[in-house]
Amino acid sequence: MEVPGRLVLAPMAGVSVQAFRRQGRRFGAGLVCSEMVSCAGLSYGNERTLGYLRIGRDEHPLAVQIFGSEPALMAEAARMVEDAGADLVDINFGCPVRKVTKTGAGATLLEDPDRACRIVDAVASALRVPVTVKMRRGLDDGSRSALEVGPRLVEAGAASLTLHPRSARQMYTGTADHELTAELVQLVDVPVVASGDVVSRADAERILAETGAAGVMVGRAAQGNPWALGEIAGVVEGEPSRADVVAELLLFMEDTVEEMGEGRATGFLKKFYAWYLGRGRFPKRFKQELVRFDTIPEVEDRLLAAAPGAGRVLARLKAEIPPAENVRLDLPVSIYAGG
Ligand SMILES: Cc1cc2nc3c(=O)[nH]c(=O)nc-3n(C[C@H](O)[C@H](O)[C@H](O)COP(=O)(O)O)c2cc1C
Repeated sequence: MEVPGRLVLAPMAGVSVQAFRRQGRRFGAGLVCSEMVSCAGLSYGNERTLGYLRIGRDEHPLAVQIFGSEPALMAEAARMVEDAGADLVDINFGCPVRKVTKTGAGATLLEDPDRACRIVDAVASALRVPVTVKMRRGLDDGSRSALEVGPRLVEAGAASLTLHPRSARQMYTGTADHELTAELVQLVDVPVVASGDVVSRADAERILAETGAAGVMVGRAAQGNPWALGEIAGVVEGEPSRADVVAELLLFMEDTVEEMGEGRATGFLKKFYAWYLGRGRFPKRFKQELVRFDTIPEVEDRLLAAAPGAGRVLARLKAEIPPAENVRLDLPVSIYAGG
């Protein structure tokens, strides 16, 4: 499988919806990822979980990430993901959140390499598409578990490794130690992707040069800020105007309502208002005002009033972007109707 470019949009729970991934592709990401999907949720046929398998034709190449701790269940979930049209199945060995680690999934698997290898082996054997792994450095600060486990995961069938070189304990504090990424690159003969603290093209170039990684992954810098991706990919220059920001936000809102229905989207979108309108683009008061509206049309009207040129930019964007077309699967109908 070939990825066009060296920039990957990170999987982020509660963020990496289709609207986010589509936008990421438009701004130059060579590969986009779903947020982590529970393998238990998939195997129980949980409707909300199955909704994560909505994949649009304009998203490819797309990795769908799964988490879990039972090799057989993970293989079954991976097959569902492959059938849904994912180009890659990524396995999460990095999530530090207690709700996930207490089930033996996520970053805890870095301390249980035998089980981690059995999971990768089971998933790789079940799939035609490649299986990849995303991991942290280990559980505790200073841990080097990723360097011990990484080569074994490759032997078990991982076609690529992404390393976010913070410990699970660190969560998002401190800095990502990409010296560890450089060591991992030396140890394995598959592409390694460096994740953590890439916010500019200069960061990306430095980390690629210093680590020898095949690509960089960008997460938080892209929240409400596709222009950061564009700058890193070399397709956008300079800061967006207020009209550009509002137009992208309005498009993102429309896409999200289409994806999850207005009811769910209303609450989901609130964090994005601060992300888009922050970074000195609009006064804090304005963000606070938007969050207080109960309906999306009210937010849209207020946004258009605050950036008069946005309507024209939005119309242009819509004319340029081909209509989103979702691959239809044998899934409950409400998933396609914002369920
Ligand atoms: C809100 C949020 C949710 C995340 N969810 C996931 C996830 O579902 N799966 C995963 O592998 N990493 C997840 N991550 C980690 C990111 O993919 C990435 O490795 C990390 O944020 C470091 O990169 P950054 O400095 O570019 O943000 C998440 C990070 C954030 C901030």
